Amino acid sequence: MCGIVGYVGNSSRPAGAGHGALDVVLEGLRRLEYRGYDSAGVAVVADGAISSRKKAGKLGNLLGELEARPLPESLTGIGHTRWATHGGPTDGNAHPHLADGGRLAVIHNGIIENFAELKQQLLAKGVEFSSETDTEVAAALLGDIFRNQLGGDSSKGSLTEAMQLACQRLEGAFTLLAVHADQPGVVVAARRNSPLVVGLGEGENFLGSDVSGFIDYTRRAVELGQDQIVTITADSVEITDFFGAPAEGKEYNVDWDPASAEKGGFNSFMEKEIHDQPDAVAQTLLGRSDLNGKLTLDELRIDPELLKQVDKIIVLACGTAAYAGLVAKYAIENWCRIPTEVELAHEFRYRDPIVDANTLVVSISQSGETMDTLMAVRYAREQGAKTISICNTNGSTIPRESDAVLYTHAGPEIAVASTKAFLAQITAAYLLGLYLAQLRGNIFTGQIKDVLADLSKIPAKIQKILDNSGPLRELARSMKDEKSVLFLGRHVGFPVALEGALKLKEIAYIHAEGFAAGELKHGPIALIDEGQPVFVVVPSPRGRDSLHSKVVSNIQEVRARGARTLVIAEEGDEAVRDYAEHVFYVPETPTLLMPLLTTVPLQIFAAELAGAKGYDVDQPRNLAKSVTVE
Ligand code: AGP
Repeated sequence: MCGIVGYVGNSSRPAGAGHGALDVVLEGLRRLEYRGYDSAGVAVVADGAISSRKKAGKLGNLLGELEARPLPESLTGIGHTRWATHGGPTDGNAHPHLADGGRLAVIHNGIIENFAELKQQLLAKGVEFSSETDTEVAAALLGDIFRNQLGGDSSKGSLTEAMQLACQRLEGAFTLLAVHADQPGVVVAARRNSPLVVGLGEGENFLGSDVSGFIDYTRRAVELGQDQIVTITADSVEITDFFGAPAEGKEYNVDWDPASAEKGGFNSFMEKEIHDQPDAVAQTLLGRSDLNGKLTLDELRIDPELLKQVDKIIVLACGTAAYAGLVAKYAIENWCRIPTEVELAHEFRYRDPIVDANTLVVSISQSGETMDTLMAVRYAREQGAKTISICNTNGSTIPRESDAVLYTHAGPEIAVASTKAFLAQITAAYLLGLYLAQLRGNIFTGQIKDVLADLSKIPAKIQKILDNSGPLRELARSMKDEKSVLFLGRHVGFPVALEGALKLKEIAYIHAEGFAAGELKHGPIALIDEGQPVFVVVPSPRGRDSLHSKVVSNIQEVRARGARTLVIAEEGDEAVRDYAEHVFYVPETPTLLMPLLTTVPLQIFAAELAGAKGYDVDQPRNLAKSVTVE
């Protein structure tokens, strides 16, 4: 989820704001900073050379560096704001990465899955590396092809040909931009499973990871397709596939204003991030299993033998992250047969917990800075536990203080209310559970392969829910004056009910409460009054030990007492219709994976209702994105 900008212009651009490649690129990075702010960097082609500056931290750090060490005037440049995946947020890992003796600069968004293998091949050729990143490997590969395979031919088109040959050898998700000292006036870019758009100007052309990278200069855009390469100069835009065959992009006019462009055209970051969820799940899965259904979590860096000895798992987290842990508990205990407790981090260390060297503590945190969770992890380590962090922020404190980390790749989550990070946390927890089961031989490879295959279908199923959310949004708007909403769920639907209630609480400021459906008759049913809205997350009717009939009975019980029953159910489940005022269907999927789907309607409902109340869903009152105090 990095921010990427490219520019080639001619000298006719009016002087002043936005004059020259550097100004245009920096303005684009400013608008793209929400896509990543671990580091930032730029490179320009001037006087027969590449000049580059890059700094860890926010864009302001780079601006300070440029103030201290200015770049030469140039009409060709690229820029990058990083959301770290491979390698921490340091100056050395910041993009651009240079190759070919410093004459080539490359920036990248995505994950090169086969970077380790390519790095070994390049090391064997004597190539030296200075960073931990997969991007530097891509740069070195491109430089090696340009210099050695194509003989450093600096004629027009050779950088394009080198990019084509390089992309034929890359696996994973990538948007790459490259400039070469031998080819001033040219930027070459490539994309696979990662966004890239072209901005069309008069005597100048632009590249951006999304239109906000150039919306201040042009609203004419060309969206590139999968496995395409684009070469821009001040006066031309040429598109090919990875093998050089001419290809077409899709031209369109951007009708967003700059501010909404940063939100991808959505009216809030929360809406944008809800719609990012197919990609957040896909990116978190990417590169972590092979075609034979074997988990490849080498990044975990914990001795597998130690993991085989684990006899208890404790999940530590707060808020939404804790609900992700509750979902994980069902899956991990089912697959690994290891007792798994989920603890609110702020309670954990004050209850004198039983922790020893055979306890695996898994912390879950989007920010990696939640003090309650950090202190609990520290306590667990002092007690001798092994600790793994599931985190969305590369290089943050909790991963740094853990024995190992499994990063979610949801990209920066700007809205205070967590959505895409939640789904990515659940996805990462599933991968960890499958990995442990694989290590310990609890389930057969074939079963793991089946679960991975089911997981790979989730992004498209989420997209289907997003595409059909109209009626739900209409209901949410009609309910904007409600004073209380209850949420019921059972089994993995119970944490979903808790999360649905939390979303409504934190952005619509409405009393909302989630219950285990089976708990209803033990007290909460007394809350049911005429017209009380109750969301019910219904398990699939498929499967021998389905809880379906029990939850349908719960719907009847609350409906009989006047509740407005709003049901989330699996496509094809007709049994709920008779007792539901509204039914919102989600695609069929195995029970343990259902939270990745049933959560989405509840997120949409909360965002739409809060929006209808005129509230700022991104910055709700009294809350912060990361609670860094105990
Ligand atoms: C979720 O919508 C909230 N913003 C909050 O509960 C959050 O999940 C919790 O504070 C934990 O934050 P973390 O994931 O950054 O540790």
